[in-house]
Amino acid sequence: AATVTYEAENATISQGAVNADHAGFTGTGFVNYDNLTGSYVQWSVSVAAAGSTSLAFRYANGTTTARPMTIAVDGATVATPSFAGTGAWTTWATTTVTATLTAGTHTVRATATTANGGPNVDSLTV
Ligand code: GCU
Ligand code: CA
Repeated sequence: AATVTYEAENATISQGAVNADHAGFTGTGFVNYDNLTGSYVQWSVSVAAAGSTSLAFRYANGTTTARPMTIAVDGATVATPSFAGTGAWTTWATTTVTATLTAGTHTVRATATTANGGPNVDSLTV
């Protein structure tokens, strides 16, 4: 099915800032999560057909320590990916999780679960 990319800088941001100081992002910037537990980005996404749906997070982590986050859909945790180091803040990678969704509009929230905060997040493709 066709995919849609939702930029992080256009999403709802709690305890983070939109930055553009590390090249390679799409859109107008990326979200720099505040380095603390609980910072998050929340997107509203539209799903055309019910079923297993890929949620692809484009991110960079210029440290050597993973920055795990809880991925929740409509408030329910669906995955806890690690967001491993990418080697540089300008090196972007994609982590994909799957969730079973109904057709329609859903919230997808990516919340940092360590004191390092999340990685820098560029976008979510659904
Ligand atoms: C650096 C980097 C930021 C990043 C931060 C972090 O300050 O420039 O983009 O978010 O490290 O460690 O989270
Ligand atoms: Ca940060």
